Amino acid sequence: EKGGYPSFMEKEINDQPAAVADTLLGRVDAFSRLTLDEMRIDPEALKKVTKIVVLACGTSAYAGSVAKYAIENWCRIPVEVELSHEFRYRDPIVDANTLVVSISQSGETMDTLMAVRYAKEQGALTLSICNTNGSTIPRESDAVLYTHAGPEIAVASTKAFLAQITATYLLGLYLGQLRGNLFTGQIKDILADLGKIPSKIQSILDRAEEIKELARSMSDASSVLFLGRHVGYPVAMEGALKLKEIAYIHAEGFAAGELKHGPIALIDEGQPVFVVVPSPRGRDSLHSKVVSNIQEVRARGAKTLVIAEAGDQAVAEFAEFVFYVPETPTLLMPLLSTVPLQLFACELATVKGLDVDQPRNLAKSVTVE
Ligand code: F6R
Repeated sequence: EKGGYPSFMEKEINDQPAAVADTLLGRVDAFSRLTLDEMRIDPEALKKVTKIVVLACGTSAYAGSVAKYAIENWCRIPVEVELSHEFRYRDPIVDANTLVVSISQSGETMDTLMAVRYAKEQGALTLSICNTNGSTIPRESDAVLYTHAGPEIAVASTKAFLAQITATYLLGLYLGQLRGNLFTGQIKDILADLGKIPSKIQSILDRAEEIKELARSMSDASSVLFLGRHVGYPVAMEGALKLKEIAYIHAEGFAAGELKHGPIALIDEGQPVFVVVPSPRGRDSLHSKVVSNIQEVRARGAKTLVIAEAGDQAVAEFAEFVFYVPETPTLLMPLLSTVPLQLFACELATVKGLDVDQPRNLAKSVTVE
């Protein structure tokens, strides 16, 4: 069942081209119009939405953090992302014009279920993005948009994460279409770029050995830091979470802009720091700011490990290691830049002889509060 891979996690990382492709499948018509009627939400209700609140835990919450950048950019609707367990205990402000989007691979996470119930009681419209057919959260929600990643067995989430990002992007495009924020041509272009993602992921997987070799050389690391900015920030958080979960290595993700506000004090000789670098073609000056961050940590002795876009000339001279991912528009970059970080954690846990699929103290679905 592991398809020849040593672990389910490695198999599921390799399933990701299909997870993204299958999640896109059948949701767009021949005229590049999103056809999400399957959600069974009244389009008129969606037109009235004034705020989106995303509720999720762990990796699924990082998918929500990525989605915020895209949905706000495309639809100009404010998006708040909140951990389900924090949401319920603070009198959150939601009403009939709030769309509450829960994201859950299992559909059984108790914290998220309770948060959705609470939101429903407050009159919000609830939409579940879920990978498990017929599970509790989609059953109790007003609507559901399934991710089609296939069953995820490994405790550490990988393919469900990329499928969740894909599904939230479909939702964002649908809202943009419905509310007139996006022109048909724009939607068509974004869908074309999304359509190219599976083969780009595959090209990363074909070069897995580059990052695995790095992982094998770092089997005695005791702490690894991850920096990212814009959509690279949740990617950095996810890279750190994977490493904690399965390799039991202290890891922290930071917004690169926060470095000088504290975390840079952590840097000393030999400290490994992954930096997820924005595209040099992207938003004004973000690329150069992150390149400066690489220089800053390196000047203090950090071992700089960089994830950058193919063709980025600026990073190599400041990096011990660079992994290039294919070119893609900035908002889609998390679908690529996450993959080498998953491979890194998986290989590092494997060389440490750990049970990659069943890490200690963790359960695949957390059905208690
Ligand atoms: C991390 C991981 C967890 C889950 C979290 C939410 O690899 O698997 O952080 O993402 O427990 O689970 P779901 O998505 O099933 O609600």
